[in-house]
Amino acid sequence: MSTPHDESAPSSESCCYLRTKEEACWWLKFSGVVITLALVAAAVVVGMAFSVIHDVKASVEDARLDTFALYTANRRAGFFAGNISVAVAVRNPNWAMSIEYRKPLVADLVFFQRRLYKVTVVEDGQKQRRSRTRLHLLHAAWEVPSQVLDTAALEELEKQNATGVFDLEMRLYGELKFLAHRKPRRVHLSCPLRLQVAPPGHEVVVFPPVECVPFTPENIYF
Ligand SMILES: *[C@@H]1O[C@H](CO)[C@@H](O)[C@H](O)[C@H]1NC(C)=O
Ligand SMILES: *[C@@H]1O[C@H](CO)[C@@H](O)[C@H](O)[C@H]1NC(C)=O
Repeated sequence: MSTPHDESAPSSESCCYLRTKEEACWWLKFSGVVITLALVAAAVVVGMAFSVIHDVKASVEDARLDTFALYTANRRAGFFAGNISVAVAVRNPNWAMSIEYRKPLVADLVFFQRRLYKVTVVEDGQKQRRSRTRLHLLHAAWEVPSQVLDTAALEELEKQNATGVFDLEMRLYGELKFLAHRKPRRVHLSCPLRLQVAPPGHEVVVFPPVECVPFTPENIYF
């Protein structure tokens, strides 16, 4: 008959067995905790990816001004002619959500608060997949009565013409919807363009890319 002491003192074999079991138990618990934490982290990341909206971004990758001139005998009678090509990249920075345009994405070409040209960049109903960038090539050519420019804009045009560098602006606006979100979001981006009239012919003009910045639509222009 063994003593209680003997009973509680396990043999070296069962000690080993017990230790392995304890260890196995510990590892099981540990990996359980790790898996739970990983699942929670994944749920948080996925949840954030679908709940936090990153608005679309745009940049002008290339631009070429072929004509920007006033043909006039006097200030109130004449033509204002322009010809510009712009390559604009629109990025969907969301890695989980695609976007769908609810209103066309439109580009306004603006000089000194005057709208010179309006062109549709993306039709409504178009979709853009997650993390995708699309390059749009825009061409605008106009010949309008010089009255489109008011006196202040005409003076500014003369001033800038003297320097040979024109400060134009491309404003992008539209409305789009992100996957998993009901409420459409407005797009208002402004892309500043400093351009010289390109020499005639097909000579390449270097254009450093410009990032477009959000602007407040309160800015009224004509
Ligand atoms: C711009 O400057 C050129 C000379 O560089 C001149 O011939 C032209 O008439 C000017 N145009 C305007 C609109 O002032
Ligand atoms: C605008 O400029 C481009 C490039 O120089 C030319 O091919 C095109 O014919 C011009 N468009 C107009 C309407 O003048």
